[in-house]
Amino acid sequence: MKVSSILVPFLFLTICYNNFEPIKSEFVITPLFTTMYRYQFYAVVMPYMVREYQRKNIPSSGIRKLKETDPDIEPNLEGRTAIITGGSRGLGVEVVRTFLRKGAHVITTSSSNDKQVAEQRYAKITKNIPPGKWKLDIWYLDLMSMESVLEFVERFKMQPNASLNYFIGNAGVMFPKYRISKDGFESQQSINYLGHALMTFHLLPYLYETSKQTNVQSRIVLTSSCLHHIPARIRWHDLQSVQVYSPHYAYGLSKLSVIMFINRLSRTLKSKGDIGQHVKAFTIHPGLVDTDLLNTIEIVQQYPQIAHQVALRDVKEGAETTIYAALSNELDRFSGRYLEDSQLAVSSRLSNNEDLQDRLWTVTARLLSKWTDDEWFDNMEY
Ligand SMILES: NC(=O)c1ccc[n+]([C@@H]2O[C@H](COP(=O)([O-])OP(=O)(O)OC[C@H]3O[C@@H](n4cnc5c(N)ncnc54)[C@H](OP(=O)(O)O)[C@@H]3O)[C@@H](O)[C@H]2O)c1
Repeated sequence: MKVSSILVPFLFLTICYNNFEPIKSEFVITPLFTTMYRYQFYAVVMPYMVREYQRKNIPSSGIRKLKETDPDIEPNLEGRTAIITGGSRGLGVEVVRTFLRKGAHVITTSSSNDKQVAEQRYAKITKNIPPGKWKLDIWYLDLMSMESVLEFVERFKMQPNASLNYFIGNAGVMFPKYRISKDGFESQQSINYLGHALMTFHLLPYLYETSKQTNVQSRIVLTSSCLHHIPARIRWHDLQSVQVYSPHYAYGLSKLSVIMFINRLSRTLKSKGDIGQHVKAFTIHPGLVDTDLLNTIEIVQQYPQIAHQVALRDVKEGAETTIYAALSNELDRFSGRYLEDSQLAVSSRLSNNEDLQDRLWTVTARLLSKWTDDEWFDNMEY
């Protein structure tokens, strides 16, 4: 074989690789990056599937199952208000139903502006809930738009005697095609993380005020995922995945950001004294739950029977950890923590790095400054 037959293509590829950024990105970096994170996704999710199997099929596994009637869980929520995003579809519906059964006023959301959709969802959620003091509102919210977040929050503020005991940020998307919002945010970043961070910022004064007036602790619960373990590092230079997009990495990053944000938020609240006593914040992984969300996973598409019957929990069980985080008295002293299976759990090392949390905190404040009037939690007066 002639040396030139190897050398010429090699030189050609080297020249392309070094000189043409788009070629490098499209043919080399993107496939490498997306493949690497697809494998990383399976490496993270497999042990959790085994755990789901054990939870479902091996009673002696000792994995906690929460009952709505557990003595530790607040039995009566009459007179209390909860905002729960994404509670009109998916596992959020079961969270909403639990709050309603306990007599709360729930404001949940739909990303469709269609009145008929809202009516159908209302009927589905409230089916078989005995009459009582509960009340349900379904309001439009599109977390792909920070303008929509502000409109939602303003609508809440306009309510007579607006009070709030619980803010549960449950809405989310997983592994969509690349989409960037008009605010410049990648969709998973916008919906799973930034939209909820902005809501937390605007709702916090209400959570604090209501807790002070009623002497009942207020709670913030943002939904993360076991897949926060996916990112090996944070690509600070490309948080919106403009240069290269791996749906697995971007989802993992959004859920990692949620944990880091909650941890940093509760450190801030603790340092401010009184507000830290009144408002506690948690983040959770709900388990692998049989909802539409998981239909984006290849293994679930390929082996639906095995996935649904053996390795996924139903939506009622999927709601347990959120309910525990919002309503358990056991958690009073553990603000900022991450939960799995209605228990405190350990999140990734990356998520617990306080320097990285501080950096994300500052970056988030900058990204959202347009919708916070350049204020942020640190410089707000409470
Ligand atoms: N299922 C699981 O195994 C699993 C595992 C780990 C974490 N999680 C997390 O748990 C949460 C709930 O997931 P799920 O399984 O219930 O998913 P799902 O069945 O797909 O429901 C997603 C929810 O998010 C809402 N949503 C989606 N896009 C929105 C947008 N642009 N603006 C406002 N709301 C939006 C949806 O409301 P609309 O229908 O009105 O758009 C829906 O209520 C998510 O944060 C998810 O990441 C789920």
